[in-house]
Amino acid sequence: MKILAILGSPRKGNSEILLEEAIKLCNGKKHELTIIKPCELNISGCTACDGCRDTGQCILRDDMDKVYPLLREAQRIIIASPIFFFGVPAQLKLLIDRCQSLWYEKYILKKIFPQPIKKKALLMLVGGMKKGEIGITCAEATLKAFLRTIDVREHKTLSYLGYDEPGAILKDLVALEKVKYATKELLKND
Ligand SMILES: Cc1cc2nc3c(=O)[nH]c(=O)nc-3n(C[C@H](O)[C@H](O)[C@H](O)COP(=O)(O)O)c2cc1C
Repeated sequence: MKILAILGSPRKGNSEILLEEAIKLCNGKKHELTIIKPCELNISGCTACDGCRDTGQCILRDDMDKVYPLLREAQRIIIASPIFFFGVPAQLKLLIDRCQSLWYEKYILKKIFPQPIKKKALLMLVGGMKKGEIGITCAEATLKAFLRTIDVREHKTLSYLGYDEPGAILKDLVALEKVKYATKELLKND
């Protein structure tokens, strides 16, 4: 199975710990795992030029050229991200906004790419605020719009609130168990 893991955080912190736990289960002969870190990629913001309107192809040339095929081909997507200002970090949002070309392709041009198996996703969201549910709600809404655009119709969200310092997530003694369980579920074939 082709799996794409995306780290939303620009630091070595809580999201990375969660993502590493998930990807331990994604290695092996049965899977082809690719990990991307938007903060290490050169991705420009969508300029809303509408250059993709008639073709579904973005006219900007940068590291998104490598990302688009990964988004198209992945059968499972795992995203671990912190909440920044009730949303996702800007580096991840740049990648998401550049999927406007895929949005045109799917919803306006109505190009259908048959998928061999149903695509599914796992989201792991970490916020520093103890009562930061709104951050989870808003970030999940953004990610849901992104996932539906790339034909992922089903996702599960694990949320972790009140973890601010890098590594603080390890104080949650069941955090990694929850990741393991959810990843095993994600990797099941329907
Ligand atoms: C720019 C910035 C904005 C943040 N905004 C929020 C927020 O809106 N809600 C929240 O719960 N935590 C917020 N935080 C805290 C982070 O979500 C928290 O530190 C998290 O553990 C970071 O995850 P990481 O270690 O994977 O980077 C913010 C942190 C930064 C640096």
